Amino acid sequence: MTDPDTVAAAIADADEVVALTGAGLSTASGIPDFRSEGGLWDEFDEDAFTVRRYRADPERFWDDWLSLHAHLFDGDVAPNPAHDALARLEQDGQLDALLTQNVDGLHLAAGSDAVVHLHGTGTSATCPDCGASIPVEAARERVESGEGAPTCDCGGVYKPDTVLFGEQLPAAAMQEARRRAEAADVFLAAGSSLTVDPAGLLPDTAIRNGATLVVVNLDRTKYAGRADHVAREPVEAFLPAVADRVAELADR
Ligand code: APR
Ligand code: ZN
Repeated sequence: MTDPDTVAAAIADADEVVALTGAGLSTASGIPDFRSEGGLWDEFDEDAFTVRRYRADPERFWDDWLSLHAHLFDGDVAPNPAHDALARLEQDGQLDALLTQNVDGLHLAAGSDAVVHLHGTGTSATCPDCGASIPVEAARERVESGEGAPTCDCGGVYKPDTVLFGEQLPAAAMQEARRRAEAADVFLAAGSSLTVDPAGLLPDTAIRNGATLVVVNLDRTKYAGRADHVAREPVEAFLPAVADRVAELADR
């Protein structure tokens, strides 16, 4: 097991530092993750969120998606110290890219800028036929007014801008993520089970290109045996301690 000082020394020594985050970053903000005990996949069926189901049964798809979405976006969700620590590392010039699987927008809300959204965003929906886009709240109003699946003026059925199972990840985002993983000297995977590909393959890409792999995650991940540093600690405590130590080292 590792400690914040060891991880901070690796980050301070590195030229290119890249983070990959998952739902574990946001549990301290009150958003359940997917695969922990009591996670969202205990309450919802993953198969309800495939692109095939959106096409075959858009009305029931939207009902389920909006119920899931309510957990991610209930009004008072805010960034927690883990998000703040990654934003601070970026502002201190110690983090070059933040690849996230999360769609809750909390990295941007914390002030991170170099964010690559691998799984899209949960704040808008787009018409697949004409590209028109609406905020998810507008889609919710239409569904709750009894309209059924929110439909565009052109006749297309809006699709949430989160990547659905069975759907390709945004090509530009995945290309940038691979480029970042290949170039990383330190690759920090935080708050993710690393079980869903292609995001879950990025640590492998980083290791193959010579990166030091750091994994900060409460549960064990498939990289436990390959990571240089593993911390089974809460990210909302561990990452701020790393950011504090990196700042101290930079002041020397
Ligand atoms: N600190 C550290 N680790 C945490 C914390 C915490 N406070 N809270 C949860 N975790 C860990 C859990 O141990 C778990 O292994 O975060 C991990 C979250 O894993 P998942 O729930 O699988 O979430 P994620 O890896 O982001 O899932 C990837 O799967 O369902 C799809 O599209 C969805 O983006 C998601 C993708
Ligand atoms: Zn349209």
